[in-house]
Amino acid sequence: MTPALTNPDGISQPSAKERFAHALALVPEIAAVEARIRSTFKSDVAIMREIPEYLLSLGGKRIRPILALLCSKALGAQEITDDIIDIAAGIELIHMATLMHDDIIDQSPIRRHKPSAYAKYGTPGTLLSGDFLLTRAFGLCSRLDREIIEATEQACIELVEGETLEIAVPLGEHTASSSLTIATRKTASLFRLAAFCGASLTDSPDAVKDHMTKFGESLGIAFQIIDDILDVTSDEATLGKRPGIDIAERKPSLINILWIASGDPAAKRLLTPPDPLTEQAFVEESLTKLRESAVLTEAKNAARRHADVATKNLAEALGGDLSNLTPEGEALFAVIDFALERVL
Ligand code: FPP
Ligand code: MG
Repeated sequence: MTPALTNPDGISQPSAKERFAHALALVPEIAAVEARIRSTFKSDVAIMREIPEYLLSLGGKRIRPILALLCSKALGAQEITDDIIDIAAGIELIHMATLMHDDIIDQSPIRRHKPSAYAKYGTPGTLLSGDFLLTRAFGLCSRLDREIIEATEQACIELVEGETLEIAVPLGEHTASSSLTIATRKTASLFRLAAFCGASLTDSPDAVKDHMTKFGESLGIAFQIIDDILDVTSDEATLGKRPGIDIAERKPSLINILWIASGDPAAKRLLTPPDPLTEQAFVEESLTKLRESAVLTEAKNAARRHADVATKNLAEALGGDLSNLTPEGEALFAVIDFALERVL
């Protein structure tokens, strides 16, 4: 599907995970992004330094800033400028703010294998830390071009809209299409922004910016569907939280929507509030059933379709000649494959 990493004899193809590790090695500037993020944790109110520092210390893939760096390098950036570091840091700060607010909304005790900021510091401090980080993010990006500021504003609006649609509309009123709208807004919006900024800051022509934007958005949608699938197929040690949360929380994940649409009578229970006495058994039975179901195959096919759109647009953005890719171009294809390899 995607071009192989340099491998002239075609033997022993590296796995997508190895290719992703190789991609990381191409962006050592991620350390400067991390330092820029940390430099914004300045306040004489200690808790405003402590809570963001705690969330940052929990790790994470940093996939959004990595995308911004790789896109700009793949499009010919000779050096990673302060502007690219600023926007890559700003995007991760926005992502951190959304995680803080999301854990409050979902009342999630665990994030990245550890107590969430919400569980450790409570609602007021975590809520306000999210506000602090969002403001810092706009402080960084306000020094950049107008089109970047506007794209960042648009992404944040979509984040809020996506989260609102997810919690405010009852599960029974959702469709596969509305589930994908939520994925597009709450997840793909920041992937799209990262890829767009990489193109914008290398002064790419509009057509290239458009293809990079579509690449980022499609990758983000695939990423959210993969997240929904992992909630069913993975385990606590890998996920960093217990599986089946989307079932327990009656989320409009693509898996839940497809399961209801399949007509399986067991799925009807998703449309009723949890019964504390039998809920645990329901989640476990649902997971066992879904792991062997056509619903899972359908969701995997949907993830693959969006990854294919990402691949096509990335190829266009990089000029269409895949025989002559730069290592950074190859690394971007590896990011798509790595996301998919986690579930296929
Ligand atoms: C995690 O999804 C949540 C998001 C991707 C978006 C959350 C957005 C908001 C809370 C709106 C606030 C917006 C701003 C700009 C601060 P999930 O619950 O499916 O994933 P999880 O398992 O990681 O919690
Ligand atoms: Mg959540």
